Amino acid sequence: MTTSCDIPEALCQILRDARHVCILTGAGVSAESGVPTFRDAQDGLWAQYAPQDLATPDAFLINPALIWRWYRWRRELVNSAMPNSGHYAIASLSELVPQLTLVTQNVDNLHQRAGSRNVIEFHGNLFNDRCFADGSLHIADESLDVPVCPDCGGNLRPGVVWFGEAIPESALHESCSAAADCDVFLSIGTSSQVYPAAGLANLAKNNGAIVVEINPEPTMLAADFDFAIAGKSGVVLPELLESLAVKRSGQDRSEK
Ligand code: OAD
Repeated sequence: MTTSCDIPEALCQILRDARHVCILTGAGVSAESGVPTFRDAQDGLWAQYAPQDLATPDAFLINPALIWRWYRWRRELVNSAMPNSGHYAIASLSELVPQLTLVTQNVDNLHQRAGSRNVIEFHGNLFNDRCFADGSLHIADESLDVPVCPDCGGNLRPGVVWFGEAIPESALHESCSAAADCDVFLSIGTSSQVYPAAGLANLAKNNGAIVVEINPEPTMLAADFDFAIAGKSGVVLPELLESLAVKRSGQDRSEK
């Protein structure tokens, strides 16, 4: 394992040769946009609020109005945030490699707003309103504290995946396929504590991929990875992109 703030030369070479790059992002990628992470000891959402009170189906059944207030607050926070240089670098990377699959645990749309397409939303989307009973998508009537489903009259809920709930089937299937198929897997801005998302890196590794972590604080899993770059994604990713672009133009010249 290599741990460095610099981009290792070998990694640039590996990425330049890559056929399929799979990226998993977590809350850290949006931290530089001013969106709090979950597990930061001071500012993390789970340092201030108990997940079992706000992010479980039982909590919603007990007090749906409280849950809606919290998620509306998060929607406003995210709407007033802008994508950062890490989000933009990931969107640009897709133009430098033959195939890129982006899987995010984030529910904030910031990757999409930075230009990434076909983002696999592993934990749903903060801005979707779903029927609590059957999961169907609807547009919530914002004048109601707890919006209701126009079809069944039951409560609508925010379309995020809560603790104890299954990952959306297509997101799980597509992510596992990409992790198993890629030759480079980048785990960026995630504490790698929440499964099944955290298992994607090992799935990739077990299928022969080079696995890379980008995080200012290397995680418990980093020792199993091939490279751990200790730095903020908004700094490391543009540098990585620049190194690749420089190398690629050098390569293009030498191929002429
Ligand atoms: P966490 O809050 O668990 O971890 C955020 C990670 O980002 C930490 O490892 C930080 O060190 C790192 N980090 C902080 N600033 C960074 C920066 N500028 N650049 C790169 N990394 C940085 O967030 P997740 O791993 O995303 O689930 O959490 C996983 C899931 O747990 C979330 O999707 C959410 C939460 O409960 C659900 O809501 C279902």
